[in-house]
Amino acid sequence: MKDTPIDHEVVSRLIEESRISNIGKASIREIKRLVDNIEKETGKKFIRMEMGIPGLPPNSIGVKAEIEALKSGVASVYPDIEGIFQLKKEIQKFVKLFLDTDINSDNCVPTAGSMQASLASFITLSRMQENKDTVLFIDPGFPVHKQQCRIFGIKYESFDIFNFRGEKLKEKLESYLKKGNFISILYSNPNNPSWICFTESELKIIGDLANKYDVTVLEDLAYFGMDFRKDYSKPGVPPHQPTIAKYTDNYILFISGSKLFSYAGQRIGMMVISDKLFNKQAAGLKRHYTTDIFGRAMIYGTLYASTAGTAHSVQYAMTAILKAANDGKFVITDEVKEYGKKAKIMKKLFIDNGFKIVYDKDIDLPLADGFYFTFSYLGMSGEELLKELLFFGISAISLSITGSEREEGMRACVSLVPRDQLPELECRLKKFKELHS
Ligand SMILES: Cc1ncc(COP(=O)(O)O)c(C=O)c1O
Repeated sequence: MKDTPIDHEVVSRLIEESRISNIGKASIREIKRLVDNIEKETGKKFIRMEMGIPGLPPNSIGVKAEIEALKSGVASVYPDIEGIFQLKKEIQKFVKLFLDTDINSDNCVPTAGSMQASLASFITLSRMQENKDTVLFIDPGFPVHKQQCRIFGIKYESFDIFNFRGEKLKEKLESYLKKGNFISILYSNPNNPSWICFTESELKIIGDLANKYDVTVLEDLAYFGMDFRKDYSKPGVPPHQPTIAKYTDNYILFISGSKLFSYAGQRIGMMVISDKLFNKQAAGLKRHYTTDIFGRAMIYGTLYASTAGTAHSVQYAMTAILKAANDGKFVITDEVKEYGKKAKIMKKLFIDNGFKIVYDKDIDLPLADGFYFTFSYLGMSGEELLKELLFFGISAISLSITGSEREEGMRACVSLVPRDQLPELECRLKKFKELHS
């Protein structure tokens, strides 16, 4: 197996030198570093599908507003921890127009990326009640969420949704929640990595059980509006991005600026806390905070102690972006639709060369095309496949680090693969097939 597009000896040596003990279990950033090193030494470009970096330019409305804000001097002023007034108002409007949900603007809080929103939620929620301290992940999922829990000593359990779509979700979810130790449930919708999208009836199941067992739903909308089978882009006009807010009043929504607005570099996300949860009092909070009110503990406790707010200038960027979206002057999905178009082509290239899509259906509907897709090859484990693909200049991550129970799978991210690299992807996949059949 030496006649591979990328020099076999170099790849083997650099894997060895990376000191990654098990390549299939390596984190996304470790794979990134390894591939950077291989590219540097061989001078050959990889088809980079390991990391979810937006492959588009940053939202220009945001950039302009941010430059103006910087010029006006905001960099020297501490921003309010709860976020600037104008941004909170625009988030409130955005939630009304695009999620058809009423929310108090006090409960709309910018965060340093949605990563900070999830971390702050795990921490604050786990301190409300002594024996209700565990997060339930509906997997597969974004591996860093679990890393956050592990680092901060927060307990979690998880299950793979693959065999529990539709009505089957109820029994499975309830088998966990009835134990009584769960404080929250987290999922992303559309789902990273599988790109499945929950149906309204699945969201209702989750919401009903959250109400029954007093569990907070953490709905990660990092890929807001990107189920391109529907058009969720018109402010105030149905259909709206599906949300748990329709089915429970016990939730926190995480909306990220990273993917939808290609603003990952400035680290801004938004946390939208339901009115009921924001005002909820929990005696347990007093062990760690000066207040027993959840919303206050979150803002003046956890967020203050971690970053003391979100960078000032980017809050102006996000205000301008949301205002343009709310006023119908910027169509939120116009630019990111490119991801769906590329996914369709890339999935076909994989399938034509003997690969299979692992999470291939949304219950009985064909899966949407979007930011990620999953694939496998003829009984190879995800770990074997990850390593083998490196010799062909293709990088992706193994599904095993996402909580997926599909041992054979890989996650591919389409964002960083430019269209002009697609012919090269096809050549490399053909070569892979040739050498593995
Ligand atoms: C599901 C999910 N949640 C959260 C994030 C992180 O978002 P942010 O950049 O806003 O911190 C990502 C990034 O890839 C993601 O895929």
